[in-house]
Amino acid sequence: MPEDVLPRIAVLTTGGTIAGLPAEGLSYRAGSLPAQRLLESVPQAAKWARLSVEAVAEVGSQDVDHALWRTLAARVRALMDDGQVDGIVITHGTDTLEETAFFLHMAVQANKPVVLTGAMRPAHTPGADGPANLLDAIAAACSPAARPLGVCVLMNQTLYDAVEVQKARAEGLDAFSCRNHGPLGRVSGHQLALHPGAGQGNPAWRGAFADDSRLDAWPRVHILYAHAGMDAALLDAMLATRPDGIVVAGVGNGNASAPTWRRLQAAASEGVAVVRASRTPAGQVWPGVEVDDEQLGFIAAGGLSPQKARVLLLLALQRRDNTRQLKAHFLGI
Ligand code: SIN
Repeated sequence: MPEDVLPRIAVLTTGGTIAGLPAEGLSYRAGSLPAQRLLESVPQAAKWARLSVEAVAEVGSQDVDHALWRTLAARVRALMDDGQVDGIVITHGTDTLEETAFFLHMAVQANKPVVLTGAMRPAHTPGADGPANLLDAIAAACSPAARPLGVCVLMNQTLYDAVEVQKARAEGLDAFSCRNHGPLGRVSGHQLALHPGAGQGNPAWRGAFADDSRLDAWPRVHILYAHAGMDAALLDAMLATRPDGIVVAGVGNGNASAPTWRRLQAAASEGVAVVRASRTPAGQVWPGVEVDDEQLGFIAAGGLSPQKARVLLLLALQRRDNTRQLKAHFLGI
């Protein structure tokens, strides 16, 4: 194909194991390989795309913060309006990849493909998966079939939507899965093949906060992890920070101990948004099943994991949505 008709793909790098290199005293340090060198690891991509690369950050994704999300959203929004760009690939650490993908899914009206990818093995190790994932992410971003999908994640040849995707294993190449439904498709031989019914991507919450231009008044939202033998000591420490919201990573159907609920009922009555999610790796948390949300003033997280429920709550509270609007968000309506 003549070079001037190849799709133009902007690669934004943020760090992560995909850019990991050896470091003193550690097996590796994430976010060390310069952006241009990352691109040089996939010379084949120049056959099917015109590539530009830009380092937005160089961090392990445990250090991805709200300021970086704001920068990324601004950059991706600008690229959406840039007629010289056909698709975007973002390299990212895998540990919080799902949170950034879900954030961008809601914060950007994606009218062209945005594909996030990363690696489970650092760049210098035998069998490093970064180059293959980057190549597949570029192939997906070039595909006309990906245009309606919005923000997605490509790992280990599999394309996931931003709502469903989750890191489900701490190590290994098959680290990613879907929380409730299946993946969107698969990249093989540099071709994207979508699964039946996947053609429009996941419409839930898509672009729901794309009109929020500032993204600079981040509320304080904590996640409280429930467990057997749970007292309220940690929750008390959380409440002392005067949070705007607390997401409970509850047991089973989003449940927690009686002392926890007593404190949270009082907090909710004082205006703290309390969302019940589940620490289990799959399933839905619906209102009023084992916990009387109406009486306690809580919100059930539906199909979202605690970490994704937190991202949705952050954006909704930033916009000062009221309790009725918050409930509607979590039911996906
Ligand atoms: C990170 O998330 O930055 C480190 C782990 C990884 O990228 O796989």
